[in-house]
Amino acid sequence: MTQHSTRPETMKETDVIDLLLAQHAMIRDLFDEVERAPAGERGEAFTRLVRLLAVHETAEEEIIHPYARRTLDGGDGVVEDRLEEERQAKELLQHMDQAGPDDPDFMANLAVLRAAVMAHARSEERYEFTKLRARTSAAERRAMAVGVKAAEAMAPTHPHPGTESATKNVLVGTPVAMMDRVRDVIRKATGH
Ligand SMILES: [Fe+2]
Ligand SMILES: [Fe+2]
Repeated sequence: MTQHSTRPETMKETDVIDLLLAQHAMIRDLFDEVERAPAGERGEAFTRLVRLLAVHETAEEEIIHPYARRTLDGGDGVVEDRLEEERQAKELLQHMDQAGPDDPDFMANLAVLRAAVMAHARSEERYEFTKLRARTSAAERRAMAVGVKAAEAMAPTHPHPGTESATKNVLVGTPVAMMDRVRDVIRKATGH
């Protein structure tokens, strides 16, 4: 797999729903990669998965979920359910990160994490994105895609040469610390 395939901010999709669906596929592919990696390379593949999840989930939490809350009938309930799923996945992610890739339970935990993350993605697609697509114009969805990509570009999973140090400060440490930093960067950039 090339590095290009895990740069969510450079994806070609211009409709935000298409963009998020493509990112869900990217997450699934990265789970495949962690599962198939030889034991010695598992940690590196897992770190890339954690970074992608941090950037994707935080962009959703900062841009998509608030919009769904405001726009959808019963939006608060839909979003609360998604946030609870994201919280549970983050807890397991945090535990796996602490235990490390050599933990004897790593592969079993990875299977549980994968099931939880992919079930969460399907729930978003079914209960949130489908309704959002029905309630928004193509122009709104294009504008939201620009917003999501801009947010994701603030914490690039693969920095451009010369900007590594800035990125290092964002996507290092525990998964929760990464997500907190991505959130800070996005909030500063969007003025929230
Ligand atoms: Fe999500
Ligand atoms: Fe998602």
